[in-house]
Amino acid sequence: MSQNNGYIPGLEGVVAAETRLSHVDGQRGQLIIAGFPVEELAANASFEEVIHLLWAGHLPSTTELVSLRDRLAGQRTLPAPTVDLLREAAQRDLQAMDALRMAAGTLDFDAGEDLALAATARFPMMIAAYWRMRNGREPLAPDPHLDHAANYLYALYGVRPTAVQTRALETYLNTVSDHGLNASTFTARTIISTGSDLVSALVGAIGALKGPLHGGAPGPALDMVFEIGTMENTEPYLRDMLQRGERIMGFGHRVYKVRDPRAEVLADAAERLYTSGNAIQGDLALYNRAKHVEDTAVALLEEYKPGRKLQTNVEFYTALLLHGLGLPTDLFTPTFAVGRVAGWIGHCLEQQRYGRLIRPASSYIGKDRNNWIPIQDRAPVAV
Ligand code: COA
Repeated sequence: MSQNNGYIPGLEGVVAAETRLSHVDGQRGQLIIAGFPVEELAANASFEEVIHLLWAGHLPSTTELVSLRDRLAGQRTLPAPTVDLLREAAQRDLQAMDALRMAAGTLDFDAGEDLALAATARFPMMIAAYWRMRNGREPLAPDPHLDHAANYLYALYGVRPTAVQTRALETYLNTVSDHGLNASTFTARTIISTGSDLVSALVGAIGALKGPLHGGAPGPALDMVFEIGTMENTEPYLRDMLQRGERIMGFGHRVYKVRDPRAEVLADAAERLYTSGNAIQGDLALYNRAKHVEDTAVALLEEYKPGRKLQTNVEFYTALLLHGLGLPTDLFTPTFAVGRVAGWIGHCLEQQRYGRLIRPASSYIGKDRNNWIPIQDRAPVAV
């Protein structure tokens, strides 16, 4: 990919930071989060433990964990100006991701408090409050007896989730908590590297995560499974897409050239949710249809894009898992932010401690010399 002027489109393969937070091995399909394989961490840790691991560099002791839980609980309630803004966003029927971006900006209203904890504690509360108001209901106060993941489900539905539902959401949040120098993390690190503040870095990261090439894919991936409808329609539907030159959402990755290890973790979690009767919506038949879509898509991508090694990415099973937890598609990407905010903050702390201003170079490919022409002498251009 390297061009003779040193330009590498999309910065593919360029190393732009050193990090202790996570390592992505795209050839072997491995993800290590702060020293733990994602499979082990995601399935066993609470989200609070992962936050501590990413921010402090080690798993918390019991005392540290209790303290973190208490401090998060102390930040969970949304201040009135945040609720007012979310109400306005709901009345205007904005996308949930845009509502989260705006509400994240209000973290500044509480100057002096711990912004990292406030952001982490409030992102799920902002999303839930927005969603309830968009559906004509009032936001709910947090339940002090519930931890982070369970509180998110409670704030959405007003019902305490089952242990299996909580574990499913926690597995998801842990799985997506950090992932090398992805686009939104790079955005956050770039912003904080200028000496700017954490709120600005998080708002920028939310903007980067929104795009369909990054965190915006799970909604369309699930819509596609629904639209396909039956096992028989799977192959003709996907062939049509590929013949029209369209991308199949939930497949392909800049780094992974084998199946994304996060897809494995989330597929297992989704299967447990659907087989145990804990799914809030959807059933095992949907899960089996999705598996068939996955197998067919991978085979057809090899046929239509030979050698590109396009495999299932994290978004495909994200869609299935979050659907099973009752979430509408509009909340899939914001929920990604609920998990990834832990990594964004970890990277910002790392960048502030060890980093340098991020300021890459560009290669000028314009004209060497233009002659200035006064406006009255310029040739008219048809508009
Ligand atoms: N469906 C069909 N074709 C795909 C594809 C997909 N999901 N992903 C990549 N391709 C094709 C491209 O069309 C391109 O083909 P070409 O060489 O014939 O032009 C080739 O594979 C390489 O694509 P490119 O865009 O250069 O790769 P990338 O590394 O920049 O892309 C993604 C990575 C994730 C952006 C890309 O795979 C994609 O768009 N996937 C779908 C969206 C998605 O799931 N995003 C979530 C990512 S976690």
